[in-house]
Amino acid sequence: MKAKILLLPGDGIGPEIVSSARRVLECVADKFKHEFVFSEALIGGAAIDAAGHPLPEETVKAAHAADAVLLGAVGGPKWDSAPVRPEAALLAMRKELGLYANIRPAKLFPALRGASSLKDEIVERGIDLVTVRELTGGIYFGERGYRTGATGREAYDTESYSEIEIERVARIAYELAETRRKKVCLVDKANVLTSSKLWRKVVSDIAEDYPSVQLDMMYVDNAAMQLALAPSQFDVLLTSNLFGDILSDLTAAIVGSIGVMPSASLGATSVGMYEAIHGSAPALAGLDKADPIGTILSAAMMLRLSFDLGAEANAVECAVEGALDDGLGTADIGGTLGTRAITDEIIRRI
Ligand code: IPM
Ligand code: MG
Repeated sequence: MKAKILLLPGDGIGPEIVSSARRVLECVADKFKHEFVFSEALIGGAAIDAAGHPLPEETVKAAHAADAVLLGAVGGPKWDSAPVRPEAALLAMRKELGLYANIRPAKLFPALRGASSLKDEIVERGIDLVTVRELTGGIYFGERGYRTGATGREAYDTESYSEIEIERVARIAYELAETRRKKVCLVDKANVLTSSKLWRKVVSDIAEDYPSVQLDMMYVDNAAMQLALAPSQFDVLLTSNLFGDILSDLTAAIVGSIGVMPSASLGATSVGMYEAIHGSAPALAGLDKADPIGTILSAAMMLRLSFDLGAEANAVECAVEGALDDGLGTADIGGTLGTRAITDEIIRRI
């Protein structure tokens, strides 16, 4: 097949890890006889420096013209006081492409058991869960601002969800659960928040469309505790934008390293955006130290979800697992290799 892939390297370690993932995709194209046409555009701090805005119009156009987008990372202390911060570009891109569902798998690789933050007896029961995070609504996009209250200046952010916003992401979670262990756990704060009550209603109302899937509901504080105590109970976690942001970092810690966690952002069109869940790690930038695995596994998700290339995605995932099984990796998972060397090892195994 032929596919157009837009690369958005961004800031910090972004350019190094995107170049690793590109080399992996080139290897896949070569081995499986596909044609991937790569283009590159600016985003984040790099775009502020070059074009004065973190999300230039050309980047949005390029994303609409592509079949899929692979993003490195955005942000860094250099742009902390920029009028529009680099992170705003990421949020705008998600909104612009209508990417309402963020899929964040957290699976424990056997070789990384020692890297998990949890005790052996918890880890031994296995961790294989996916967070389905709503990505274009909630407090990230709600009304916000400053105002003057009775005692002085106040700041506010608003959590607001419509039924349709909840339903479309819930359907993605149910459909995913159907292909897995058939369990969805809705994580919310329905004992306090009105928006969570609507989540419970909408998610239960459509449950009858997925009779093979078991639906559970859990308050977010308890879910955080359960993830630390007994993560093997979870299959698909369905949650709002903010709770998903927080809990997916926790799921990364329990499977070993945020450096190996991929994600896919999907929506109404087939143009998905794929990115590791970690940030731009400015302290590691340019040192050949960053872990490229999160981005490489994100590229594998792109192969499977945007291009329907399951065998190719498996080949990349097996190559990553093979390298890890051989004790290879970057420093974040206790290895000794640099970014380029671990990428070479993965490519050799495809
Ligand atoms: C993530 C990140 C972003 C988010 C930041 C960089 C805006 O933490 O993708 O999890 O909060 O969504
Ligand atoms: Mg986050």
